[in-house]
Amino acid sequence: MAREKWQSKLGFMLAAMGSAVGLGNIWRFSYVAGENGGGAFLLLYLAFVLLIGIPVLLSEFSIGREAQSDVVGSYQKLAPKKPWFIQGYMGLICSFLILGFYSVVAGWSLYYFWNYLNTSFFTMPDGGYEAVFGTFITNPVSPLFWHGLFMVITILVVLTGVKDGIERASKIFMPTLAVLLILLAVYSLTLEGASEGLTFLFQPDWSILEDPSVYLAALGQAFFSLSLGMGGMLTYGSYLSKDESLPSATVGIGLMDTFFAVIAGVVIFPAVFAFNISPESGPNLVFITLPGVFEQMPFGGVVGLVFFFLLCLAALSSSISILEVPVAYFMRRFGWGRTLSSAVLGLFMYLLGVAASLGMGRWSDVTIIGDRDIMGSMEFVASDVFLPLGGLVIALFVGWHWSKEEAFEATDMGSLGPIRHIWRFLVKFVAPVCIAIIFLSSVGIL
Ligand code: PHE
Ligand code: NA
Repeated sequence: MAREKWQSKLGFMLAAMGSAVGLGNIWRFSYVAGENGGGAFLLLYLAFVLLIGIPVLLSEFSIGREAQSDVVGSYQKLAPKKPWFIQGYMGLICSFLILGFYSVVAGWSLYYFWNYLNTSFFTMPDGGYEAVFGTFITNPVSPLFWHGLFMVITILVVLTGVKDGIERASKIFMPTLAVLLILLAVYSLTLEGASEGLTFLFQPDWSILEDPSVYLAALGQAFFSLSLGMGGMLTYGSYLSKDESLPSATVGIGLMDTFFAVIAGVVIFPAVFAFNISPESGPNLVFITLPGVFEQMPFGGVVGLVFFFLLCLAALSSSISILEVPVAYFMRRFGWGRTLSSAVLGLFMYLLGVAASLGMGRWSDVTIIGDRDIMGSMEFVASDVFLPLGGLVIALFVGWHWSKEEAFEATDMGSLGPIRHIWRFLVKFVAPVCIAIIFLSSVGIL
């Protein structure tokens, strides 16, 4: 059977943007920025996106596009009998870890959508949104239902196939989400205490940069948000024909993703300070601040309804890109059909997510890595270790395994004057060295 292909370059761009823009921009960006002191973190994050993220994203796309195969197969095809394919297996493991917790948080978003749909979140529940959210996520059953529902939807989209399922989904809701976020940002700025939130987000407190863990957090967030280092973008690139040009698409995707994160920050941090919530509240930050904003707004209930609907769709267009990674591999490697692969692998990820979800309540005493709970540990290993490590390998592959000519050819950079040399320098030296230094210093070696 011939491999599937995007219908058009626009289809590819939408799908890749759909993968990038998701819970990472809104839920994860705001809580990680909050935990890492705001302004200085934001600057590091932006620097990593520009100097490492976008150049490595171009590399990841180009590997898949050149090989026209999945995460493991691409390396085996481009570098037979060399160990580069190990990065493919890392990407497979990473996809399980990421969708494991991502689907749980997406399930929380679905639950919120449902509560706006039946209007019960239109007015503040007794005890406030924080208490309601706490009761919900610590319940052993109901989060598993919503998380399961989200996983079923993800599986259904992936099993209808790349072209039909994935390509169509992103066209309308991405621009709508952008418009809604901008409106929300404007409203948030009118809240009393908004300026404190802006100061937190945009005014760097340089002393934070003495802590090496902030660099790792910013690097991990840059990779997570760009869907980079796991092979999702490699797989999407593999469905793109060689006639299409990559550099402008890559820059567009990177800037768009970053724009969503910054605007989400402008929505959330003013509200955090206006409602006297600690910016260090962790993964529940968005789920306790946003309903408060909606509750104060005129027509806020309807706004909340639309917002959580779009958030669920954004999460869906990301989750399908995560499930697609092992699905593409299993289809080629074991000859499984799309339906079987999606269902079996999705079920497996769901089960991982069950552990993450129970870790919020019944198993909340369980810590795996340091004092991180189950979900925090999955997040840490996947986003702060595997993704940057994957990015490191991708950068080395394109910067060192490929010759200059091969790299320029595969990325369509051939005609791009001096920019191509800057790009190659970033990929060949800057990205690997920065990632290595950040890893070494966070384990205390440097
Ligand atoms: N980039 C997605 C988001 O921001 C999450 C994601 C991570 C998707 C890794 C694919 C791979 O929500
Ligand atoms: Na993102």
